Amino acid sequence: EKGGYEHFMIKEIMEQPKAIRDTLTGRLPDSGFEVNLDGINITKEDLQKLNKIFIVACGTAYHAGIVGKHVIEKLTRIPVEVDIASEFRYRDPIVDENTLTIVISQSGETIDTLVAMREAKARGSRTLGIVNVVGSSIAREVDDCLYTWAGPEIAVASTKAYTTQLICLYLIALDFATKLGTISYEEFANIRDEIKRLAEKVEYVLTHKENIQKYASEHFNAKDIFYLGRGLDFAVAMEGSLKLKEISYIHSEAYAAGELKHGTIALIEDGTFVIALATQEKLFEKMVSNIKEVKSRGAVVLSVAQEGNTDIENVSDHVLYIPRTLDILAPVLTVVPLQLFAYYTAVQRGCDVDKPRNLAKSVTVE
Ligand code: BG6
Repeated sequence: EKGGYEHFMIKEIMEQPKAIRDTLTGRLPDSGFEVNLDGINITKEDLQKLNKIFIVACGTAYHAGIVGKHVIEKLTRIPVEVDIASEFRYRDPIVDENTLTIVISQSGETIDTLVAMREAKARGSRTLGIVNVVGSSIAREVDDCLYTWAGPEIAVASTKAYTTQLICLYLIALDFATKLGTISYEEFANIRDEIKRLAEKVEYVLTHKENIQKYASEHFNAKDIFYLGRGLDFAVAMEGSLKLKEISYIHSEAYAAGELKHGTIALIEDGTFVIALATQEKLFEKMVSNIKEVKSRGAVVLSVAQEGNTDIENVSDHVLYIPRTLDILAPVLTVVPLQLFAYYTAVQRGCDVDKPRNLAKSVTVE
């Protein structure tokens, strides 16, 4: 049932190209100026009355939501707030009939997310679910439901659910933007064509997994690991750091790279391992400066950048390149080496990768 793999987690990491293709099937026509979102019946008029979108989720799904915020705001200019489900519910959120609440959940059964969704609904908000498990509680109760077609995810640490949640968020952002007229046809076609190349590019990243295994075998004894990034790279840093903590039990922090100097840079000492994400073209130079700051304090830096940005080699100990893509789509590629790094590190440390201590696949208590 593990298809020849040692663990479900690595099987599911390797399944991501297929999961992405399945999630895209029938939804993004090769031509035309529209997205076909089965399960979503939100019209132009519905969108025009929205003054805010909330994205509410837990854990990895919450991290996907942070990427979603950037993308939806960029393409539709509707303000988006992202919240942790267990916080949202109890802080009297400003939600009414002019709010759309998007909930993201692999299992569709996470009680924190389910009750947050009910709370939003009770306040008059329309609710949209991005869910993997067909017929789950959240899928049944939301007004509109877009399924991720990731297939069953068995490993507790989420991987292919995350990448397919990102795909759904891109599709939703494109759908809303075309309906609202906030995107030109050229920009739409450019994003569409690049989305269609993502599965193949993920495959390419996966064929280089032995490099990442090598870094894991060099750093698996680290006491703590920092993940730095700006913009969408910061969102991915949070997910990479969570993966590592969940399954390898190494302490780790994700930090907005520009913020480190305003707080915790003192924790970077000789030999501290830092994973620096520098995939965002617009922020590349700033990121290089931030890498220099940690290098000068003795950090050992593994950077992730888009192919061709070889300047990064001057400030890094190791560099992993991802195939070139649009900045907004880079998270789908950037997260893959981080999943692999967490996986190989946990294996090296002899951890129970698929069933990490104290975690459950789906949590049905608040
Ligand atoms: C946690 C799981 O309890 O719930 C995480 O351990 C997961 O892996 C989170 O990301 C949210 O789960 P779901 O099913 O709502 O996406």
